[in-house]
Amino acid sequence: EKGGYASFMLKEIAEQPKAVADTLLGRIDGSGALTLDEVRIPANVLRETDKVVIVACGTAFHAGLIAKYAIEHWTRLPCEVELASEFRYRDPILDQQTLVIAVSQSGETMDTLMALRHAREQGAHVLAICNTNGSTIPRESDAVLYTHAGPEVAVASTKAFLTQLVACYLVALYLGQVRGTKWADEIRAVVRDLSSIAGAVERVLETMEPVRELARSLAGKDTVLFLGRHVGYPVALEGALKLKELAYMHAEGFAAGELKHGPIALVEDDLPVVVVAPSPRGRSVLHDKIVSNIQEIRARGARTIVIAEEGDEAVAPYADHLIRVPATPTLLQPLVATVPLQVFACELATARGNEVDQPRNLAKSVTVE
Ligand code: F6R
Repeated sequence: EKGGYASFMLKEIAEQPKAVADTLLGRIDGSGALTLDEVRIPANVLRETDKVVIVACGTAFHAGLIAKYAIEHWTRLPCEVELASEFRYRDPILDQQTLVIAVSQSGETMDTLMALRHAREQGAHVLAICNTNGSTIPRESDAVLYTHAGPEVAVASTKAFLTQLVACYLVALYLGQVRGTKWADEIRAVVRDLSSIAGAVERVLETMEPVRELARSLAGKDTVLFLGRHVGYPVALEGALKLKELAYMHAEGFAAGELKHGPIALVEDDLPVVVVAPSPRGRSVLHDKIVSNIQEIRARGARTIVIAEEGDEAVAPYADHLIRVPATPTLLQPLVATVPLQVFACELATARGNEVDQPRNLAKSVTVE
C-alpha cells in the first residue's frame, strides 16, 4: 500500500506534483479562463459579495491564511480568516453578502462544520474546499470545490495542504474573473504560472537529500523556530505545526517583523531558525527586510536555515544552510516553500524514533468539538 515508501507520509509528500496537477485539471480552459462550473453560487451573488470569511482548523487554517493574501490582492474584497473553533463564539458579522469558505481535507471536522452551520444560519453563502467526496462539510455547504489530492492516510496533512492552496488560488482568481478586477493581466499570468507549478514541486522533491541530512543532525535539539513574512508567515506556522505534531518538539512560527517585539529574546547560541525568504523580484522591500532579520538572529548566535528562491544571492552569506526552491510569483511561493518543511519534519521525527503516520494523541479526522 505504501508503494515502496517507508511511510504513508513520505508517499504522500512524493505524490504532491500529481495532486497539484489533478486539482488544476479541467478548471482552466484553453484561453486561460477559469471554468469552475462546480461552484454553483450564482455569478450575481459573487458580484454582490462584500466580504470573504475563511474558517478552518490546523493545516487547513494555514491554507486559509495564505488564501487571504491572494483573495485581497486579486479581488480587493476584504477577507478574514478564523480558526473554526473560535469563529462561532464571538458573534461574527455575517449576512447574505458574506462568502464563507470552509476548508477541510476530511470534510468531517466538527469545529469547521459547526462554524459553517452558524454561517448559513446567518444567511451567508458557504463554499467548501474539501478532499473527501460526499463528506458532511460539502453536503452541508452551498457549493464545493473538491481538491483532488486522493486519499490522505498519514495523520499529518501534506498533499491535501498543497491542493487546498491550489483550490484557494483558483477561487481567488475566479472571484477576480467574475467581478472584474484591475489585475486581469496579472491573473492571466498567474494562471499560466499555476500550470507549471507541479513541475516546480517535482524539482523541489528531487533536491531534498541535504534537507534530510540537516534534519537528522538536529534530532537532539529541543526547539526550532520558523520565520516568514507575507505568505511566508503562514508557511512558517505550517512548518512549526508539522514539527510539533511529528517530532514532538517545541516549534514556533513567527512573522519575522515581530521578532523585535519579543521572540528575538529566545534566540541563543546554535538555536536552529528556519527562515522563509520571499522572492527578491517583485516585492523587494520584503526581501530586504528578511535579509536584515536573518542578520539580526545570526548575530545572536542562531543557526540559520534559509529557504530561498534559486538565484537569490543576497541571503546566501547569512545562511548556515541554504535550501533552494524554484522561482515563483510571490503569492504562489507557499506551494514550493512548504515542501522542504514537510520533508524536514518527517525526517526529524523518524530520526527521533517517532511513528510519522500515527503521531501520538492525534487522529486523522477530528469529529468532536
Ligand atoms: C495537521 C493536520 C490537522 C488538520 C486539521 C483539519 O497536519 O492534519 O491540523 O489539518 O485537523 O483537518 P481537516 O482538513 O480534515 O478539516
